[in-house]
Amino acid sequence: MKRPVAMLAATAYAVPKRVFTNDDFASIGVETSDEWIRERTGIGQRYIAGEGETLTFLCTEAARQAMAMAGVTAAELDLIILGTASPDRLLPATAVEVQAALGASRAAAFDLDAACSGWLYSCQVAEGLIATGNYETILVIGGEVLSRIINWKDRNTCVLFGDGAGATIIRRSTKQRGILSAYMRSDGTLADLLQRPKGAGACPMTNEILAEGSHFITMAGREVFKNAVRSMADAADRALDGAKLSSTDVDLLIPHQANIRIIEATAKHASIPMDKVFVNVDRYGNTSAASIPIALSEAQTQGLVKEGSTVMFVAFGAGFTWGSMIVRF
Ligand code: ACO
Repeated sequence: MKRPVAMLAATAYAVPKRVFTNDDFASIGVETSDEWIRERTGIGQRYIAGEGETLTFLCTEAARQAMAMAGVTAAELDLIILGTASPDRLLPATAVEVQAALGASRAAAFDLDAACSGWLYSCQVAEGLIATGNYETILVIGGEVLSRIINWKDRNTCVLFGDGAGATIIRRSTKQRGILSAYMRSDGTLADLLQRPKGAGACPMTNEILAEGSHFITMAGREVFKNAVRSMADAADRALDGAKLSSTDVDLLIPHQANIRIIEATAKHASIPMDKVFVNVDRYGNTSAASIPIALSEAQTQGLVKEGSTVMFVAFGAGFTWGSMIVRF
């Protein structure tokens, strides 16, 4: 096993105030039911951003908490990486707005778009940059306000997603704690299966695009499901191989929270019993890049991740992108 270079020093999260339950879809004219959504996805509610609850706001809230927990000041941050697919503006990156809000004047800042794999990709970029010796303290955030880019008239997608942000302080590793293995992959030949087809550079916004809603997320649900199960299984295997561990060495699996059936299939493939799998998709829905750090923060608060715990993370998202990481806390 390699000596870890980078460690996850603290993780915290923020979500909007408003809870939107499955039954609330009736109030906006979406033909669905609590039973259908729970049975197919495991989701019971999600948080939806209101006025003023921008991506910058949620990320800054989460970041302030993580920094306080790690005892890190804004002046100590060398870099901010924000994994997101739903930035506040198309230009500039939301990460620079977070930098300004925090007053992290020394930090470089950029967004990283790997969709639901955004936090996991960002952690691995941070690890690599710490390994160069040029960076000591990096703020990695996974944050999304997906409610602004989903079609609230499309029941195939609007029931799945939620808003939120999770922030992690990544520092140089001390002792044997930190990232033991890390794996990232993508397959752009399948990009059309989960996308926002129009309204950006290749197909700039028009009144027609606005009217037909083709700037919102579209998804081939069953294809996404199959690829997610296959890729997350592959990622779990790679994480264990990379760390030279077996599934019995894993104290907790924290997978991307998209759908309980995808989570169960991943755990089964990795031979990890469900009592060692952290699940909160029922309360947050799929918050994309925010889902793993929100879950990690909750798991830590509940005492499920202690010093010495070995935790496996697995993610999958649009692109497709996927990956994994094993961390000793
Ligand atoms: N409420 C009620 N009925 C619905 C809803 C809804 N919200 N959405 C679709 N239906 C209907 C469909 O119209 C269809 O009706 P029809 O047979 O009359 O045409 C029927 O339900 C069955 O639809 P399917 O698509 O076959 O349902 P499936 O069992 O595949 O479940 C789901 C759909 C939940 C989207 C599933 O495919 C899935 O989870 N896919 C993965 C999607 C995902 O997680 N994406 C997130 C982004 S990627 C990631 O984070 C991993």
